[in-house]
Amino acid sequence: MARVQPRPVKGWTWVVWLVGLCALATAEVPQSCPQRQEIAPCTCQVKKNGLDILCEFTDQQHIDSAMTIFKGKPLVIFYLKLRHNKLPKLPGFMFFGMDIQHLTIHNSSLSVVDEASLSSIGKMLTQFDVSQNSLTQVPSPAFKNLHHLLILNMNHNKIGSIHGRAFQGLDTLEILTLYENKITSVDPEAFLGLEKKLKRLNLGGNLLTVVPQSSLGILDMLKKLEMQENKITEIKEGDFEGLSNLDSLGLAHNKLKSVPSRVFSHLTVLNSLELDGNHIDTIDKDAFAGLEENLQYLRLGDNNIHTIPTEALKRLHRLRHLELRANNISYIAEDAFAGFGDSITFLNLQKNEIRSLSGLIFENLNSLETLNLQNNKLSQVSEDVMEPILDTLRVVDLMDNPLMCACELQWYKNWLRNLKEKDDEMMQKKRTVCYMQQEHREFSLQNLPLDKMNCKVKSYENSAYSSAETQIAISKVALALCAFVLARNSHLNMF
Ligand SMILES: *[C@@H]1O[C@H](CO)[C@@H](O)[C@H](O)[C@H]1NC(C)=O
Ligand SMILES: *[C@@H]1O[C@H](CO)[C@@H](O)[C@H](O)[C@H]1NC(C)=O
Repeated sequence: MARVQPRPVKGWTWVVWLVGLCALATAEVPQSCPQRQEIAPCTCQVKKNGLDILCEFTDQQHIDSAMTIFKGKPLVIFYLKLRHNKLPKLPGFMFFGMDIQHLTIHNSSLSVVDEASLSSIGKMLTQFDVSQNSLTQVPSPAFKNLHHLLILNMNHNKIGSIHGRAFQGLDTLEILTLYENKITSVDPEAFLGLEKKLKRLNLGGNLLTVVPQSSLGILDMLKKLEMQENKITEIKEGDFEGLSNLDSLGLAHNKLKSVPSRVFSHLTVLNSLELDGNHIDTIDKDAFAGLEENLQYLRLGDNNIHTIPTEALKRLHRLRHLELRANNISYIAEDAFAGFGDSITFLNLQKNEIRSLSGLIFENLNSLETLNLQNNKLSQVSEDVMEPILDTLRVVDLMDNPLMCACELQWYKNWLRNLKEKDDEMMQKKRTVCYMQQEHREFSLQNLPLDKMNCKVKSYENSAYSSAETQIAISKVALALCAFVLARNSHLNMF
């Protein structure tokens, strides 16, 4: 009998074997959910990054028994969402032996978080949402081992004050939100430990009466600070010292009466400042000192401002977006935008008391694209006023003004016709009207009966905003004329 010689294994075969083995060894353990009845009323789904588990409208006992099924198994739980439950206390070791990356305990009457409830999941947990519960303070001992947490959401709880070192241990935390609690005080050491990573902090919807400067001042990496909807009555120079990387500051809907000198002077990279919905009637001429090089968005709507704060705005070379809606501005001085404004693209003066526009007020606004004058007291908007901005303007809102039909308004129709060629649909839909006394009716500004009004119809052919079509038409007429003259001349020459 001929012995079968074992075939020599060629080099490349070994490589294939090795790669195969290697792939097997490193492949993720296949994720699968337990039987539905084992975890009811909770549910489980397999998602690309791990399991997605949801328990709603149930209680501690049912959740506990469902969790037992997951414990000690090599499962990756991408989401564990516990919502609308009765879960007043998070007991110790509740998630022991589970690998949870995103944990939500929402609207579940939670008020006590045991020190040992979260420590076992500290190595994997990156997001923790405990919003809409009954926490009255930050459960610091339970948080201290969450060394990989990036996002902590404690919105809608009943936290009255933030104690010293409340977030110690959360040294990777980037986003902290405490919106709509009852916070009246913040310890000077409240945020100690967050200074290296924290980028966003939301303290909105609380009961703060001052800016908690001593606690915020260490947050050197902070980019976005929200303190809207508090009861802050005053801000002063030094309040924002230390926030040297702040990009966006929200102070809307507080009780500020004035913006004093140099109050933001430490915020040299600030891009966006929201001060709307306060009671501001005074803005110091040096209020925005320090913001020269970076501020682009400034919101001052819903205040009690009487004039364009020219002196304060002058220094903001990069300002693009200026919101002054719903103030008490009754007139715009001739020099309101003198010496600044050439980077402003958006100007909102809606809901003021402006009665007239005159002179070269808009002359410097040579980047203006949107002008909102809706709901003022304007009876006339002359072409002389609008002329400097007509070629950059894409949107102008004049609705809800007592406009009287007059020849002066014919710029609107011509400007709009030019816009049509740029295909600006939004503007075409706005229906702005004026009232014509002798006819006792309103006319759309787009269809002013210029003949009936005995207007000297202006020719726009040579202006910057004449249309290509008109230009072609003129060229044709000119050519025809030229041909006619030539023909006539040659005809004359024949004699
Ligand atoms: C909160 O949960 C309760 C059940 O515990 C539910 O009845 C209620 O509608 C929930 N509230 C919200 C705002 O979801
Ligand atoms: C608005 O300004 C006028 C004076 O220009 C003043 O009489 C009026 O009281 C102000 N309105 C409010 C709400 O402050």
